[in-house]
Amino acid sequence: MVYIGIVGYGTVGSGVYEVLRTNRESIARRAGEEIAVKRICDLREFPNDPASDLITHEYNDLIEDEEIQIIVETMGGTKPAYAFVKSALLAGKSVCTSNKELVAEYGSELIELAKERNLNFFFEASVGGGIPIIRPLNQALTADEIMEIRGILNGTTNYILTKMSREGSDYASALKEAQEMGYAERNPEADVEGFDACRKIAILTSLAYGMQVDYQDIDTEGITKITKQDMDYAKALDAAVKLIGESRREQGKVYARVAPLLIDSSHPLYSVNDVFNAIFVKGNVLGDVMFYGRGAGKLPTASAVVADVVDAVKHRGTHVVTLWSSKKLILGDSDEAMNRFFVRVPKNQKEKAIEAFGNVSEVISDKVRGEFAFITEKMKEGSFKEKTKDLDVINRIRVGF
Ligand code: HSE
Repeated sequence: MVYIGIVGYGTVGSGVYEVLRTNRESIARRAGEEIAVKRICDLREFPNDPASDLITHEYNDLIEDEEIQIIVETMGGTKPAYAFVKSALLAGKSVCTSNKELVAEYGSELIELAKERNLNFFFEASVGGGIPIIRPLNQALTADEIMEIRGILNGTTNYILTKMSREGSDYASALKEAQEMGYAERNPEADVEGFDACRKIAILTSLAYGMQVDYQDIDTEGITKITKQDMDYAKALDAAVKLIGESRREQGKVYARVAPLLIDSSHPLYSVNDVFNAIFVKGNVLGDVMFYGRGAGKLPTASAVVADVVDAVKHRGTHVVTLWSSKKLILGDSDEAMNRFFVRVPKNQKEKAIEAFGNVSEVISDKVRGEFAFITEKMKEGSFKEKTKDLDVINRIRVGF
């Protein structure tokens, strides 16, 4: 029997307990041993929960219990999760976490600490919920140079954008629904302003290049400025607006960004709707590969955490190498990144816009009046900013095709 402890008994933590109970036998077969939860640390009481007897408010009850070999950390945030995880590794316990804030900020350090002690620090659930993407990047796509990662990495915003596009829902009611379903972060800003996707693309880019990508260096824009009119134009273009986290290698530099992107109907990401996530990876020898599945929610995320626990059981006494050094990867200047832009200006600025941009292709939606909308040629971000400085831009969205 292998005993584990869970710290943080919220949506994901309770999901881990449930998955371990539901699939107890098949999990034991795969791990080679039965896995049981011995203690759960949370500040709250859960009187009617099947795990109520396992609850403690003292984290040390888990750390000091020598029978507990693996800690599952599902608290979220870095304080006190970082201190807890570090003390677990120092106490000789492997850690499996779903906590993207923790991994984005301290991933390389915690991997190093695990390595020094022949332990493991696994974080499959930190990106893409139930979708396997960390392990494939770390262990399967090792023959390739990664040229591009482009992902729908946040279920809540994808849910909102899908509702806005399909049903004409307003932003606030779609967000409320996502919160009720347990997809959203406690602070919805983290989802809708793109901060959550930013941490996730920072983690994936760090793994792709084996170096530390600081999430603070990534230009991040959320979906709060996307309107019904943008959706109408997207339809006219046979495209969809998606919040995309991307990093790509161009001329020896890596550029990364989180922003809404127009994705045309021929791209596989176009059909990724609702809470689903997908991560599209381009390797220099493999070509394109895409990972698709439920990117948020209790059981899908818990499934990824439990898969990590099984891996940690199978690799007791062996550190599974994860290439992620603390050396900082300096990202390319975002003003130098090349993009095409969809732009909306008031109709009376049509001449001015054409003067600034030259050759543009007009976009017409029969639902929107009084505007001139167009798509630019490919240009540097910096140049785009310069050309729009005298225009009253209603909105602009980068074009992914
Ligand atoms: N709030 C996150 C999302 C949860 O909506 O994707 C999963 O990380």
